[in-house]
Parts: sequence; structure tokens; C-alpha cells
Amino acid sequence: MRAPCRTRARSLPVAALALLLAGCGSSQDTLQGHSRQSKAIAHLFWVMFVGAWIVFGFVLALLVIAFLRRRRRGAPPEETSRGAYALILGGGLLAPALTLSALFGLTISTIHTTQAPAAGSTQLTIEVTGHQWFWDVRYPGTKAATANEIHIPVNTRVVVVATTKDVIHSFWVPELDRKIDMIPGRTNTVLLDADRVGVYRGQCAEFCGLQHAHMGFLVYVDPPDVFRRWLANMAKPARPPAAGGAGAGARTFVSEPCSGCHTIRGTAADGKVGPDLTHLASRETLAADTIPNREEYLAGWIRDPQHVKPGNRMPAVDLSATQVQDVVAYLESLK
Ligand code: CUA
Repeated sequence: MRAPCRTRARSLPVAALALLLAGCGSSQDTLQGHSRQSKAIAHLFWVMFVGAWIVFGFVLALLVIAFLRRRRRGAPPEETSRGAYALILGGGLLAPALTLSALFGLTISTIHTTQAPAAGSTQLTIEVTGHQWFWDVRYPGTKAATANEIHIPVNTRVVVVATTKDVIHSFWVPELDRKIDMIPGRTNTVLLDADRVGVYRGQCAEFCGLQHAHMGFLVYVDPPDVFRRWLANMAKPARPPAAGGAGAGARTFVSEPCSGCHTIRGTAADGKVGPDLTHLASRETLAADTIPNREEYLAGWIRDPQHVKPGNRMPAVDLSATQVQDVVAYLESLK
């Protein structure tokens, strides 16, 4: 009867370790920075982490020495020697003051390194607005608008101007920089300056309601020419639908409630509640990095969005199976 209990007890540390390690090695690893800013943050972490262990080890060693001495010699005499005073003043006052001052200096310098310059003062500024639960992304000076997937050129200082349309969210790309809160009625800025081409995951870092955990996004760091082509395409209006299913889908989209919430530039759909869908097919994911952008997932999302992401603001629209199929064909043609 006791065997299962023992097995469970033995598997507990394994489970705890698995949970602990689950935070490592993903595409949002704060210790694997790909920008000067995130490397500075990781450096500050390691200095504090290693420093804390050195201090802990030193204090522990003093305790052990004191314990052993007391066992060998019994209680110390009443009057305290000058050496003991020096130890108390040095270890209890001087050493902490010096250590904390050094850490304070390093922290201030890290804050300085990660400070975003003013919007508009660098090569590129992007406006990101948090919504329950997606990210609206605009490129000022162009007509480009997208959602949940941000493209930036590599080795370029990009200022993200962050705000919110509803509650407080927090914009965080752990491998690129610190996080920044999105506060109603205010704008905050954060700098993205990636030194390597790749895809970096971001996550809302402030609890913002039921689907906070499903408020992710992707930052694509592109070579400059790839970025320019992407941005030029994003700024264009949607391509006209092909004949057949996609054409019928376009008409359904505009005549049904879909167009009341979503914008497809170049069509009569100009809703502002949900994400801009002008180039939806160029995105890799749907519903803020919750499901892949593939036909079967998009169809499932349109049929029953509350099943995929309970509490989100998209209602299930009463469409026939053919209508759903046509709308999916249309949306997946919007490259
Ligand atoms: Cu938005 Cu949490």
C-alpha cells in the first residue's frame, strides 16, 4: 500500500524541477538577450545573483566558524575585543554600504542603457495599442496597420510608443528589452534594437483579465530589404478577391456583422473594435499568438471564437457552413 506514496514523493522533486526549468530555453529567455539593452539587464541579473551567493556563502562560513569556536572554547568573555568591533563595523556597515552602492550604480547605468529615446528621434517609430486581448500595431507616416505581429529591421533603433484602449497591459519582449506598462490615457516608450535576425516572442506582462495569458505577440527582426518590402506591402489596401468562394466571402464579410468590428482597407469594412485584417494571410498566428493562422483554425475561430478564447469580445456570427468557408477563403487570400 505504501509503494504508490513513495513513488509520488519521489516524483515530486522531478515535477518541481520540470516546472522550474519550464521557464528556460524558450523564445522569451531574459538571459539570452539579442540587444544591447537585454544583455545589460542579463548582466545586472548575473552580478546580483552571483554577488548574493558570495555574500551568503561568506556569512554562512562566519557562522560555522563562530559555532565551532564556541564549541571548542565555550562562551566568549564579556568584554569585546577591538577585532570583534572591527568585524561588526566592517561586515555590518562598511561592506553592505559598499556593495549596495556598487549595485545601485550598476542599476542606474542599466536603466540608462535601456532608456528609450524620444519618439520620432530614431529611424523608426511604431505605435502599439493594447486591447483585451490583442495588440494593434501602426507605423506612423505610412498607412501600414497590423496586429499581434511586429516587424522591425535588424540593427535599427526602433521606438515603440505603447498605450491601451481599455485596461492596463504591459508590453514585454524579454529577449529585446525591459517591459513597459500600457496605461490608459498615457503613452510610454520602449526601445527595440535587435542585433540578430529572428523571431522573438513577446507577452503581456500585466494581468488584464480572463485571457491575459493568451495575449502574446511576435517580433520579426528582418534584414532591412525584407523589412522594407514587408512595410510597403502592409501599407497597401487589400487585394481584390478572386472570383468564386473568396469573392462570395468578401461580400459576406461586408454584409454580415464582421465589418462592424474589423477593418479591411480598400473595402467598406472599417470597424475599429477588433484587429485590422487587411493583410491577415501574411500573419503566422491568430488571436494574439494563440492558434496558428491556417484555414481549419480560422474556420474554427469564426464558428466559435468563445471556445478558443473564452471571454474575448468577438461574438459567434450566425453564418452557414458555406459562408464560413467563403469568408475563410477570402481572408486567407489577403496576403
Ligand atoms: Cu494584456 Cu495582460
